[in-house]
Amino acid sequence: MNRYGSPKVLKDPAKLSFDYVPERLVHRERQMDRLRMIFRPVLESGVSQTALLIGNVGTGKTATSKRFCLDLVREGNERGRPMDFVVVNCRQRSTEAAVLLRLVTHFDERFPDRGFSTMEMLRALRKHVETRGLHLVVVLDEADVLLRRGAGDLIYQLSRFDEEKIGGRASLSLILVSQKYLLDLLDPASLSTFRRANTIQFDRYTAPELRDIVAERAKLAFHPGTVPDESIDLIADISAEFGDARFAIEILEKAGMLAEEERSEQVTAENVRAAKAFTYSVVTRSKVEGLDVQRRLVLLATARAMKDRAYVTTGEVEKMYHVVAEEHGQRPRGHTQFWAYLQAVSGEGLLETKVSGDPSGGRTTYISVPDIPVKVLSEMLEEMLSEPED
Ligand SMILES: Nc1ncnc2c1ncn2[C@@H]1O[C@H](COP(=O)(O)OP(=O)(O)O)[C@@H](O)[C@H]1O
Ligand SMILES: [Mg+2]
Repeated sequence: MNRYGSPKVLKDPAKLSFDYVPERLVHRERQMDRLRMIFRPVLESGVSQTALLIGNVGTGKTATSKRFCLDLVREGNERGRPMDFVVVNCRQRSTEAAVLLRLVTHFDERFPDRGFSTMEMLRALRKHVETRGLHLVVVLDEADVLLRRGAGDLIYQLSRFDEEKIGGRASLSLILVSQKYLLDLLDPASLSTFRRANTIQFDRYTAPELRDIVAERAKLAFHPGTVPDESIDLIADISAEFGDARFAIEILEKAGMLAEEERSEQVTAENVRAAKAFTYSVVTRSKVEGLDVQRRLVLLATARAMKDRAYVTTGEVEKMYHVVAEEHGQRPRGHTQFWAYLQAVSGEGLLETKVSGDPSGGRTTYISVPDIPVKVLSEMLEEMLSEPED
């Protein structure tokens, strides 16, 4: 730590990166134990296994499956049972061919990326696994994406990988990871290999659990004493709304960067609040991306009408909606449709509405925008609305 711009609070920022796998996953001991139980026969009697990990975003599914596989490979090697694993993100690789290619290139980087059928790739994979005498654990992360695109046959093939073998040790186990329960997407044949008992649930983290996770990560990534307890508590409370550890670690990282920019000795509660606003805008962006043009226009109209006020009325928003629709070359829809859009946008949590009586006996609906400065929201929407639609 010198005076010329070296980090003051951050010790090891790589520990905050999203692909860092912690040595120990606090509050996931039960899930780890279940995995160890399920996979014990793989080490001891050479059979294959399947497991299904289910839970919301940021509940530690990917991190737990990676930690588990790393430990399993280590233990296998100690026991003279060679093991290996591959994690495939099926959101990025959402076809059978893309997944298989990832598996084959794990062993042979130069395997050509086209020209081979799935059967040929499966055969190549089997050959690599067998010549190395390995047991391979394949983790299909976000497997529901794959299934929804009709690639269930690959899961069937992988779950029956060892079937044509007579005697000898099984060579491939499968872990499916998904946000949603997906056994109902499987055909009966593959379903029969996924015993229901092997489903492991990942619940949303509670505030005290998030506090432990954040405290642990702060210890790894920051200099001692630079992240006060009150900042850790605040991060835990903010992210408990979603029970999402990724959100918590993102806030910790951003707050740390803000403290660095200020050349501050500590990550303050104010840094955390600023980081929250920033991180929320990431969440908001992904929600806004899910809206069609008309709904984006309604949201933009709200943001514009608000300027620096806390609330606006629906009448003001509707007037503004006509203006912004015209600006963006869209035909404004009628009153009923406008109301439906407003409800939809508020259903996404992007707007809040409240109804209150006024002195003349009528009822007025007031609208506010939670969590994100309206200026940031307006800019985001203007930018998205000017992009060509695909
Ligand atoms: N129990 C935990 N202890 C420490 N870090 C965790 C824990 N659970 C999740 N994380 C961290 O939170 C982030 C999100 O976890 P991840 O496994 O990607 O969630 P999911 O795959 O369920 O969306 C990762 O950076 C991960 O390292
Ligand atoms: Mg994940």
